[in-house]
Amino acid sequence: MFAHRDKDQTKLDLITVESKADIDNWVSKYPAEQKRSAVMAALRIVQDQNSGYLTDELIEAVAEYLDMPPIAVQEVATFYSMYERKPIGKVKICVCTNISCMLCGSDDVVEHLQNKLGIKLGETTGDGMFTLKEVECLGACVNAPVMQIGNDYHENLSKEKIDKLIESMDRL
Ligand code: FES
Repeated sequence: MFAHRDKDQTKLDLITVESKADIDNWVSKYPAEQKRSAVMAALRIVQDQNSGYLTDELIEAVAEYLDMPPIAVQEVATFYSMYERKPIGKVKICVCTNISCMLCGSDDVVEHLQNKLGIKLGETTGDGMFTLKEVECLGACVNAPVMQIGNDYHENLSKEKIDKLIESMDRL
């Protein structure tokens, strides 16, 4: 039994004290027997802790922390586009290409960004600065086309708007 507890602690130690406190805050929003409901928040928190991507070990640590089967956490981590499974750039640009954005020019947004950054969708610039990603509806269709950078939405995109944004980020 003791060896088993030691192994569990090793997994749990992958989650920082700050992240645990943050996860606990989310867990407290649900009934005690439903702490698995915090799994999406927990994955986001440990992803932020790890420079923006999830490793198998971190997914297992979240499973351990929330008393969930690792496969159930793995399924969540692979289903939603906000989770990354490999290292990404310092700035992640998520362009919505769903129906409203597509009708309002998301193809042009993607093409402009690809040309400007010299990468294709799903790739990261050589300097590790930008990752470009295609995502499903961001829920801001009324202001399409839309992209998300970090926690911020950028709406009614034009080439000029994109250029200004990228240039401001290049100086980060
Ligand atoms: S379709 Fe792009 S935000 Fe909804």
